[in-house]
Parts: sequence; C-alpha cells; structure tokens
Amino acid sequence: MAITLDESLPLPLYRQLYEGLRRAILAGRLPPGGKLPSTRILARQLSLSRNTVCQAYGELEAEGYLVGRHGSGSYVSSELPEELTPEAEERLGLRSVETRPGLGASEPRNPAGEPHSNSPRGLPFDFHPGQGAWDGFPAGTWRRLLARQWRHGWRETMDYGDPAGYRPLREEVAAYLARSRAVRCTADEVVIVNGTQQALDLLARVLVVPGDRVAVEDPGYPSARQLLASHRAQILPLEVDQDGMLVDRLRESGVKLALVTPSHQFPTGAMLSLPRRLSLLAWARNEGGLVVEDDYDSGFRYEGRPLDSLQGLDGTGRVVHLGSFSKVLFPSLRVGYAVLPPGLVRPFVEAKELTDRQTPILEQQLLAGFLGEGHFERHLRRMRQLYRRRRQALVEALQSHLAARMQVIGASAGMHLMVQLLMSMDERQVVERAACAGVAVYPAGPYYATPGHQSALVMGYAGMAEERIAEGVARLAKALDGVTAQR
Ligand SMILES: Cc1ncc(COP(=O)(O)O)c(C=O)c1O
Repeated sequence: MAITLDESLPLPLYRQLYEGLRRAILAGRLPPGGKLPSTRILARQLSLSRNTVCQAYGELEAEGYLVGRHGSGSYVSSELPEELTPEAEERLGLRSVETRPGLGASEPRNPAGEPHSNSPRGLPFDFHPGQGAWDGFPAGTWRRLLARQWRHGWRETMDYGDPAGYRPLREEVAAYLARSRAVRCTADEVVIVNGTQQALDLLARVLVVPGDRVAVEDPGYPSARQLLASHRAQILPLEVDQDGMLVDRLRESGVKLALVTPSHQFPTGAMLSLPRRLSLLAWARNEGGLVVEDDYDSGFRYEGRPLDSLQGLDGTGRVVHLGSFSKVLFPSLRVGYAVLPPGLVRPFVEAKELTDRQTPILEQQLLAGFLGEGHFERHLRRMRQLYRRRRQALVEALQSHLAARMQVIGASAGMHLMVQLLMSMDERQVVERAACAGVAVYPAGPYYATPGHQSALVMGYAGMAEERIAEGVARLAKALDGVTAQR
C-alpha cells in the first residue's frame, strides 16, 4: 500500500496513516467492502508500531470509513457509494461540469482594455488603456476620513445597511450628478453598486430574458458585451462613427435595451451627437426601448463643452444612467451608481439584495465624506490637469514620430486615445514589434464584435509620466523603422 509517512512533519504518524488510508478509500483505490491488511502486517510493512496502526484504524472506524469484524479484520465500509468522491471522479476523468456558454471559454475573455489582460503587460513602457495615475489619489485625506469613521461612526459601519446604498452617499451622488451632468434625480433613484459591471448584471437580471435583443456599440466595451451575452441576450452590434453609435439602425430592430457610452464612446472617443441623442430617445419612447447610458469617465474632458447626460435630456424615464468611481478614483474601490427610472428601482434593489445584500458600508461612508467635503471635485480637477498634459505628450510624440503612418482619433477626453494605422502592417504585427522593443500597445480587435475593422491601436496615457510617454513613442517609432505608410 503506497502511503507516504514523514516523521519530520508536525502531524503524528497515526494521523498521517489515517489521512493516507482515508484518501485511498475516497479515491476508490480501496474499494467498498475490501479487506485491509491486519494491523500487525501493515505495521511491519510501514515500519510502524502496531499501536500507531490501531489508532489510525480506530479513527477510521469511528468515522464510518472502516468496519471492524471481530476475529476477521477491518473492511472498507460497503455503505459508501460506488462513485463516491471528487477524487474518484478526478481519477476517472469525469470531473467536468457543464457551464453556460461564454464563461470560462478557452479564449481569453478580455484580451485588452482590462487589467486582467493577457496582452504584453509588464513591459517597461506600457500604454495600457485602463491604467490611471492611481498614485495621485489623496491617500492622506482618505486615511483621515477612515480614522474619523472608526472613531465616531463605527457602530453604524458594522450592521447590515440599506441594499440601495448608504443614504448620505446617495444624496451626495444625486447632488453631484445634478451639478455636473444635469442628471435629473433624487437620492431615491440612485442605487449604489459595486461598479458598472454589477449594475449591468443587475439590469440584465431584471430586464433580459434569454433571446432578448440588446444593442451594443461596435467597437465597444467587451466586458459589457460578454456580460449581456452570458445572460443569453441576443447581441446586436451597432457600428460607430465620428458621431457615435449609428442609432437609426435601432428602428424596428426589436431591440429591448441599448447600451451606449454617449459622452465618450469606448474606445473610439467619439461623442454622440445631439441629433443622434434625440433620435435614440425617440426610439426608446416610440418603441418601448430602454437606453443604458454608461458614463464611465465623463469627468475627464479636455476639449469642447461636454454635452449634458442623456438622462437629463430624457423626460420620459427611458434612460438608466450608470457611473463608476473606477476611473475617477481607483478601480479596486468597486463603487459605482445607477440612476434608475422610478419603476425600476425596486426590482433592481431586490436583485442587488439577493446577490450580495449590499455594497460594503465603510467605503460608502468614506466616499460620502470625500464628496461632501469637496475632496472629490478637487481631486478630479487635479487629475484632469495631469491627464491633459499626458494626453498632449502622447499626441505630440505620435505626431512628431509617426504622423504619416498613424492617425490619432478620439483624443479630446478620457484616459486613452485610438490610433488608426496607415501602414503596410496590421495591428497584431505592430503590437508584436512594439513588444520586442519593450513597449506595450493594444490592438483594437478585441473591442470589435464583428470582423473586418481597420487596423488600429488603443493607447492609454493616464498612468505614464510625460517623459516616459515621449520615450515609449520614440521606441515604438524605432521598432517600426522601415515600415512604409499606406493610406
Ligand atoms: C466603458 C467602460 N464602462 C465602465 C467601466 C467601469 O467599470 P467598473 O465600474 O465595473 O469598474 C469601464 C472601466 O474600464 C469602462 O471602460
């Protein structure tokens, strides 16, 4: 019997033997009803005292793995089911569970745009579009808010709270959205969530039945597309141009829900034009559709006046407005908000309560103070200045090194821009060449739902100092030496 015992381990030998035998039983190597060697023989085989073996057998008997028959020896209990255990199943190679399509696929789920990417991260110059200057966060202020909360408000922190969110935070968010985005809401319509991703998940739970048609932008945010597909929505990708999503295609499409990033289309950077906003709202009104407005980074606009939110333009309760603190503060915070039409609040909050009860209160309390005391908007202003300079550095570097071969689009807002490739090399080849030179740039492909797009890169600048940006682009240009322009 192959059982490994090791005297140097802190576990007593009888316990090691017990474990070895138990595993052999569970894995089916000692089958139900099978006879075990006598304690004397096993003790000799394993160079143990007989007492040690008796102790192990005794425990296994007490727990029902073995049955002792007087005068005849010890047997594996025949009451144990034949195909009993995870180990046995594993041994037989049977351990597969059928999952819903789309999750855990062998293809990487999200190869760009997200920190969990398999793209060439870890290179010295990383233009990752999801990276911000998280180190610019006022950690000292946060620490003070935290200390104050534990000193004065800690009892409230410890109990279950309102699944719709911490009331003072909902009020701060409603006031901020009214001031800065012309969103029309009261705190009652604001629900705090664990980021946009959860808001979308809850909306899908509440609204989508398998087979429902859901429109998304193409290119668009892969995590949202995949999430909706995981709820078995039928995805209708709608093309995007310099004025945002082609909303006319929604007419008589049978779409129930349209997901858009109107202030800053992800990833092209287009802003949905006013005529298209109006026709999107007309579609929702006339055909009973619902628009989900993902306002993920509207705090960062550098050129032109931002258009107010779509939600503020709508007077008929057909828009859900989603926002997140992931980009404007930092992504691991996992706090965002949904502003819902009144009739959707209850089912949405019920779904939230069913899935995770509530968003952790401590973070909500600190955020309420952070917004209420003006730290949030101060931080936003500071980051806007910083990101504006970094964006400028990237645009200038691209223009000075690669103007004939790359065209910058969507640089007027956000934390990334897009460059269309005007050269005799496609995006994958460019990404590979760049990686060899220590520069991570990201192909546009994964953002597209349909094939055949023009080669392009998505380049983040928010997380990199200006000198590093300049040097990274110089290296990229060097890596592309000799690659000819092609219009
Ligand atoms: C288009 C888009 N929406 C939303 C988010 C934020 O998602 P979450 O709030 O779940 O972090 C991101 C972040 O990368 C994004 O790119």
